[in-house]
Amino acid sequence: MSQYTLTVNGRDVTVDVEPDTPVLWVLRDHLGLVGAKYGCGVAQCGACTVHLNGSAVRSCSIPVSGVAGQRITTIEGLSERGDHPLQKAWLEHDVPQCGYCQAGQIMNAAALLASNPSPTDNEIDEAMHGNICRCGTYTRIHAAIKTAAAE
Ligand code: FES
Ligand code: FES
Repeated sequence: MSQYTLTVNGRDVTVDVEPDTPVLWVLRDHLGLVGAKYGCGVAQCGACTVHLNGSAVRSCSIPVSGVAGQRITTIEGLSERGDHPLQKAWLEHDVPQCGYCQAGQIMNAAALLASNPSPTDNEIDEAMHGNICRCGTYTRIHAAIKTAAAE
């Protein structure tokens, strides 16, 4: 076991884990942040998406030893009151079905809008295509991103 300090949702935290522990397990099992979900474990579905220094990453496939001293944001830390434009748009469009993929969808979309505040339809599709939704909420996800971008 080794100690790693990272900044999660603006707070410095130290965990004592094996170096190859995926960031997703650190978040869920050690820090109690269960918004990011385990879907595939091999960076293929996007359910575990969080931000690393502002960029969307697949937390299931990054070892904690690779993020020491770095800044992670999870869905719990995206906005103080759950009122990020995307979160409001998600409510307006009633996007989730089972909800399992949605934290990852929102975090991926948030990284998109941070780098490109007015994405085209194609840019949205391109940015979001790796986030799988088993329930098929893609049309509402797309509409909600358009709404948030227009805010
Ligand atoms: S659980 Fe990380 S990409 Fe699927
Ligand atoms: S809402 Fe069920 S997997 Fe996306």
